[in-house]
Amino acid sequence: MSKPLAIVTGASSGIGLELAAICAEDGFDLLVAADRSEIHTAAERFRRLGAETTVVEADLATKDGVDQLWAKAAGRPIDALLANAGHGLGHGFLDQDFDEARHVIETNITGTIYLVHLVGRQMRARGTGRILLTGSIAGFMPGTYQAVYNGTKAFIDSFSFALRAELDGSGVTVTCLMPGATETEFFERADMLDTKVGQSDKDDPAMVARVGHDAMMRGDGDVVSGWRNKIQSALANVTPAGMLAEQHRKMAEPGSADRK
Ligand SMILES: NC(=O)c1ccc[n+]([C@@H]2O[C@H](COP(=O)([O-])OP(=O)(O)OC[C@H]3O[C@@H](n4cnc5c(N)ncnc54)[C@H](OP(=O)(O)O)[C@@H]3O)[C@@H](O)[C@H]2O)c1
Repeated sequence: MSKPLAIVTGASSGIGLELAAICAEDGFDLLVAADRSEIHTAAERFRRLGAETTVVEADLATKDGVDQLWAKAAGRPIDALLANAGHGLGHGFLDQDFDEARHVIETNITGTIYLVHLVGRQMRARGTGRILLTGSIAGFMPGTYQAVYNGTKAFIDSFSFALRAELDGSGVTVTCLMPGATETEFFERADMLDTKVGQSDKDDPAMVARVGHDAMMRGDGDVVSGWRNKIQSALANVTPAGMLAEQHRKMAEPGSADRK
């Protein structure tokens, strides 16, 4: 009997690395992807955990990159898709390099939903499958000094609920994992280490991944990891957007780490 197969994107570090490790421990074989060579080192860890692991090193912001990943699946039945790859970008929108801002949208939205479109069709045809999308509580608030990023997560959070409703009764479940600030390479990569949120105490990526994986295996619709984030996202739902934008400024403004 071949083992179930999971695709995990962004599995070279942070939350994705832990999600893939949990899937390996849980008896899945893996097809993992990231856009830098660290993915090969991560794959060794997954193999030590017993997972037959196939690696794709590609930019998932591009159609070609996603096509490479799908081609590596080689028509094998996909039991779980953990569409987690994503990155942020700090600083004021008008101060950002527009190509970098576009890359955030093409990674977090276009590339992500293109992969869901490819894998989701196979799962629907088979009448079985689990999809986990890594959204964020950031999707609940305007992202002053991370405006594009928070917008992409608002898209993913919303998209997850809609797709879940569309697939109700199909045998395919869609779960949205919404973490808060988590200790990964995210803030360094987004050039936000000089911000309050960049310097704040953050959640453990292994805890966040466990919460997400277990919610996916239960077939839950969505999960916010960590009680602090649950309170923050609940408050965000009843707080005027202008006030949320001001709160986000205090957390994400460049140099805010040194301000009271
Ligand atoms: N950390 C947080 O506070 C936080 C909070 C809420 C949601 N999230 C979300 O959690 C997910 C994982 O991020 P993380 O915090 O674990 O950060 P991370 O440590 O930087 O991991 C990001 C992963 O995504 C991959 N990736 C990014 N852009 C890619 C691209 N264009 N093509 C292929 N792979 C790409 C990275 O691969 P390379 O390293 O090879 O580039 C890496 O494996 C993201 O969707 C992020 O938005 C994070």
